[in-house]
Amino acid sequence: MTRQYGAELVENNAVKNQKRALVTGGAGLIGSHLTDLLVREGWRVRIIDNLEPNTHKRGKPAWINRDAEFVQGDLRDQETIENALQDIDVIFHQAAYGGYMPEMAKYVHVNSLGTAQMLELIRERSLPIKRVIVASSQAVYSEGAGECPKHGLVFPRVRPVKQLQGGDWSVRCPICNEPITSVPTPEEAPVGGETIYGLTKVDQEKLVLLWGKQIGIPTVALRYSCTYGPRQSIFNPYTGVIAIFCTRLLNSLPPVFYEDGEQTRDLSFVEDIARANLLAAETDALDGLPVNVGSGKAVSVREIAQRVSGALGIKIQPEINGEFRPGEMRHLISGTERIRAAGYVPQVDLEDGLGRYLDWIRLQSDVRDYFSEAAEILRNKGIVHRVTAS
Ligand SMILES: NC(=O)c1ccc[n+]([C@@H]2O[C@H](COP(=O)([O-])OP(=O)(O)OC[C@H]3O[C@@H](n4cnc5c(N)ncnc54)[C@H](O)[C@@H]3O)[C@@H](O)[C@H]2O)c1
Ligand SMILES: [Zn+2]
Repeated sequence: MTRQYGAELVENNAVKNQKRALVTGGAGLIGSHLTDLLVREGWRVRIIDNLEPNTHKRGKPAWINRDAEFVQGDLRDQETIENALQDIDVIFHQAAYGGYMPEMAKYVHVNSLGTAQMLELIRERSLPIKRVIVASSQAVYSEGAGECPKHGLVFPRVRPVKQLQGGDWSVRCPICNEPITSVPTPEEAPVGGETIYGLTKVDQEKLVLLWGKQIGIPTVALRYSCTYGPRQSIFNPYTGVIAIFCTRLLNSLPPVFYEDGEQTRDLSFVEDIARANLLAAETDALDGLPVNVGSGKAVSVREIAQRVSGALGIKIQPEINGEFRPGEMRHLISGTERIRAAGYVPQVDLEDGLGRYLDWIRLQSDVRDYFSEAAEILRNKGIVHRVTAS
């Protein structure tokens, strides 16, 4: 009897000490892996996700963790979000509208306004939230940092459309206009946002960090690099480059490169991004800061296509149509000193991560190509341009 009573008491204390998380966007790529990690670590997790139709064409995904509470609802709905915020210690704010979509107002509405409304509500109701971690993005930078032989570390501006129209993809020193080499971009680099998405990610991180300082709640803005892994939407044609190349190749279609395919990306496996979130929740070393999360390594879009095609065993020559997207960064390597100093070490390299992604996508039924149709829309809306020089 006594032993049993003791066990119950221990259990009750465990429940009392259990940390409670709200993961917004918890049905998505990063939110769902983060939820799994938090549950494994003993957290009580609530998800709020509206199952955005572009991302979840077949409805509620089967991977949503059964030990988490799932609330289907829109972050912007005041009553839904107010209920979801009850009895929460830490918010992991992952919900966002992403990619290169043409809908300007929707980005602002979901990402900027949705975030502002949630923060305002916490303040108005004096909700006892202890920490907010917001998913920011490397898209907040204009262009990756560079090394100029004459001027050292420089932060180039976005490449002018006129230059790109002439088929010149180079990134140049903002002082002497000579070509520069890409180097890791530190958090101190100027932020701007050269796409509507990027602009609203700047809003999100600034809103969260500024609000946190005003009311004294610790906040962290994690600037993720390009993230990939199992569960990345196979329906959303604006999703990551690995997912797009995969769905193209599996449909016997060539990967399509914007520019010349030599642009580089810093890729992170989704579980590493989830671990970075947990770290940001458990340490106070990153409080109040924007923090890059990435591999610290560059890989070209061409190499990504080669690796995907090699691993799938589907050899199709990539296509280059002389197209480019104004505002797209040429090179970005995340400078990860800040998060590494707090103890972050990425654990899954590109080869393993890609293998795990391909194992997953092979099990998905009806992997269609949504890219061709989307590319046409982007051309018509002026988001994708063509080189004009002969
Ligand atoms: N995947 C990347 O490469 C990457 C890189 C940098 C930053 N990020 C950021 O990380 C976060 C998660 O991205 P992801 O790759 O997991 O995307 P995702 O699209 O897989 O997940 C986002 C989730 O948010 C939900 N959502 C969208 N609008 C909502 C709303 N109004 N209310 C409630 N839920 C809503 C969607 O249904 C989806 O499940 C986003 O904030 C994104 O901007 C992603
Ligand atoms: Zn220079």
